[in-house]
Parts: sequence; C-alpha cells; structure tokens
Amino acid sequence: MNVLIFESPDEATKAAFDIVMQRLETGLQTMGLATGSTPLKLYEKLRNTDTDVSHVTTVNLDEYVGLEPTDPQSYNYYMNEELFKYMNFAATYVPNGAVEDPEKECERYEEILKKNPVDLQILGMGPNGHIGFNEPGTSFDSVTHIAELTASTREANKRFFEKEEQVPTKAITMGISSILSAKEVLMLAFGESKAEAVRSMIDEPVTEGCPASVLQNHSNAVIILDKEAASKL
Ligand code: GLP
Repeated sequence: MNVLIFESPDEATKAAFDIVMQRLETGLQTMGLATGSTPLKLYEKLRNTDTDVSHVTTVNLDEYVGLEPTDPQSYNYYMNEELFKYMNFAATYVPNGAVEDPEKECERYEEILKKNPVDLQILGMGPNGHIGFNEPGTSFDSVTHIAELTASTREANKRFFEKEEQVPTKAITMGISSILSAKEVLMLAFGESKAEAVRSMIDEPVTEGCPASVLQNHSNAVIILDKEAASKL
C-alpha cells in the first residue's frame, strides 16, 4: 500500500483528483465509484472539468435495498446529482435497490462487472472499516451480494435521513473479491472518526474483521488520508 498523508481533506482531495485526471488522460476505460461524504469534493472537481469521458464506463459499489433510484437518499440519486448529469460517460452502472428480486439484481450486477473490469476503483471506508457495504466479517471471497447493515453503519449513515427508522437495513454491494479485482484502488479517508479503522487497515494484520485491511493484499492500492484520519498510525 502506498499511504499518502495530507494536512487537510482539501489537499488530500486535490491529490486524488490529480491521480484520477492522470488516469483519465492515459486510457482509463472503467472507473469504480463510491458514495458517502468523502468523495463529494472529488466529484465536484471532476464535474468542473471539461474532460471527455465519452469512452469511460462507471460502476458503483453499492445501493440501499428498498430505495427507488429517484429517492433522494439513494446512491443512484446521489451519483446523478453529483456527477452523472454533468459528464458524458459512455455508461454508468449503479445497482438498483428497488427491484422485486434483489438476488437476481446481484447476479446481473456481477455480470456487468465481468464485462467492465475496473481500472481504477475510488473507495471510502466506514468507521468500522467497511468498504462498499462489506461489513466486518464478510468473506474476502465475496462477490456482489445483499448485505445486512450493522447497527453502527446505520447509525453512521443516519445523518443523511430524516429519521433513523428510514435508514434501510440492507444493501446490494460489490463483494470484497469484486472490489479487489480492480487494477488500481484509490482509498480516501478523512477525519478523526476514521482514525481507528485506518490504523487497523494499515498497521494490523489482514483480517476479515477489518474489511479495508484486505487492501494490504492489493498490488496497487493508494491510501489518501488527511492528518486526522492518520492520527493513530
Ligand atoms: C457508506 C458507503 C461506503 C462509504 C461509507 C463512508 O457506508 N456504503 O461506500 O465509504 O459510507 O461514508 P462517508 O464518506 O460519508 O464517511
């Protein structure tokens, strides 16, 4: 892992943006995207460029089960609002959490991933070390599946909903093995709330108890931190 530490989230975002732009300029075809608050500034920077992405396909990590793609809390909605409506991507894929048969949706999504191998995967992490919605204990062999969200993840994400009861209990998520098959991974983590998970990811042995620690096994993973997220290293 290549760990880069910056004074502030803004400086860290700038470094991530430079990497993404460099890859876009040198033939990146498929980009894996994440949601959450961490990559918001990165997406803002990207949508303010006039980069031609008409040859680029995007695949997102996850989506809540039960939310329509038009629901303002859905990750489909987030991606449309933050990026897709501004940029001319060849194709954009986000799991659909509102389908009748979510298991079938996982299979369909895994086929999409097979046809579109990810060149660069943008990743965030949960305060418990989750990546996508792969909670602690998820098998490293997992492919796209339905995840039960832990109480702590629902708590961490409730800030996006009016009431805690509205936070879905399940999500469709790329599995850890699907995430790991990206040629390059760019993980961003900012703030004190991520410091403990960042320490486990980098300084502890690889364990399914900290899903992000699997990045130690990836041959091309860049970890971009602000100084608060790096404070326990
Ligand atoms: C959610 C998403 C993750 C994301 C995490 C962190 O749980 N499923 O993909 O990395 O939130 O969110 P934030 O960036 O808001 O801290």
